[in-house]
Amino acid sequence: MESFTKKYCIITYGCQMNLHESEKLAGILQTLGYVKTEDETKADIIVFNTCCIRENAEKKAEGNIGALKKLKRAKKDLIVAVGGCMTQQQGYAEKLTEKFPFIDIVFGTHNLENFAEFVIAKTESKKHVVAVDEKEGKIIEGTPKARSSFPNGWVNITYGCDNFCTYCIVPYVRGRERSRLPEEIINECKQLVELGYKEITLLGQNVNSYGRDLGNINFAALIRQVSKIQGDFRLRFMTNHPKDLTEDLVRAIAESDKTARSIHLPVQAGSNRILKLMNRHYTRGEYLAKIALLRSYMPDIAITTDIMVGFPTETDEDFNETMSLVEEVRFSGAFTFIYSPRSGTPAAKMAGQISEDVSKERIMKLIDLQNAINREQSRAYVGKEIKVLCEGYDEKKNKYLGRDTYGRMAYFAGKNLIGKFVKVKITKAGGISLLGELVAVEE
Ligand code: SAH
Ligand code: SF4
Ligand code: F3S
Repeated sequence: MESFTKKYCIITYGCQMNLHESEKLAGILQTLGYVKTEDETKADIIVFNTCCIRENAEKKAEGNIGALKKLKRAKKDLIVAVGGCMTQQQGYAEKLTEKFPFIDIVFGTHNLENFAEFVIAKTESKKHVVAVDEKEGKIIEGTPKARSSFPNGWVNITYGCDNFCTYCIVPYVRGRERSRLPEEIINECKQLVELGYKEITLLGQNVNSYGRDLGNINFAALIRQVSKIQGDFRLRFMTNHPKDLTEDLVRAIAESDKTARSIHLPVQAGSNRILKLMNRHYTRGEYLAKIALLRSYMPDIAITTDIMVGFPTETDEDFNETMSLVEEVRFSGAFTFIYSPRSGTPAAKMAGQISEDVSKERIMKLIDLQNAINREQSRAYVGKEIKVLCEGYDEKKNKYLGRDTYGRMAYFAGKNLIGKFVKVKITKAGGISLLGELVAVEE
């Protein structure tokens, strides 16, 4: 029998911030009586939560939105909504509705909390809703959330970014940095722990500057407060900005028995000239000093990073400095990107844009180097027993998966393990991930 319950399907692009915001969109839709489906063809409303960090992120979203034309023609009552960072760009909403006139709702990052209103307006009047607020407002608390990443719970601590790295679109589409009140954060974390969540990830574009706008608290103090919450959970946070990583913060991380022994510290480039052009506010030497500081408190800490190649004017010498930095630090993982000009950012107007061919060659070299480091680190795990938080099941591999405190992923067989801390003996090292056997389940 056909069910009469309306269904929603949300398609998410971009970072953890967007993943979490999709949980809010899902929460709002559930309050309106919709239930979740993964199948677009069964949905009564399809929501695209978009990203515009690089051109290919936009292309992917636009391609998938365009592909809905047929479905929309066949299913007149289907509502198509597009929100997120892509639609928040100046003048973009108009461009999008011109290109895809079948889109019913366009909203931005600043008014996601009002999504229910837009859906109701669309259902009642049949008129298109284009609602993109130009400026961010105050933080809105209490938006319902239908979480989908158990046993990990995302918790916003800051919104927006004030750093204006010259390549980056985020400050333009997410507005100025605003910190959530500590009591709201602590309450949310406590609730998650009470609900059985085993990992909490604090989210912000630059978590290290948390509290700057509040005045009486900083990120180190927040870590100390969250760490006092009773219960067996692991605390993660992202992303860190090297310029704001203080010794007091490193001490707070080291002293906490909750924080994972891993940190994501994007370096972007190894050359001082490029770092300056990027407006990153640190030199290669200062970055390396932060790494040394972290390792002096936590010798085993795993450090991951983001690296960009092909920033305007990047020479072979500049790129070689990135390579040598990667060799020196020995990251536990690196997200590597080819610089993509974003309209409205200073770097897009810089002379000396690098050709795609050169950038591709550089990124391949970089990936090869980092892969070799990953393989070496993975090999060192073989024969060891590690504590893993089981976070999911991989249908294709037919195995459970989870990460250790260092963020290294392991696969293993078992039964009913999601949300449990387990002991796994590593038998084989893949490129970056590990294969192991279940030894024990923690109660
Ligand atoms: N706030 C975080 C994340 C920003 S976006 C931070 O500061 O680290 C994630 C990564 O995307 C960045 O670290 C950067 O490496 C990459 N990125 C940002 N803008 C980009 C662009 N225009 N082209 C290519 N990569 C970009
Ligand atoms: Fe973008 Fe820089 Fe802000 Fe990160 S810190 S979001 S890279 S402007
Ligand atoms: Fe994230 Fe992409 Fe926006 S990386 S903040 S969703 S531009």
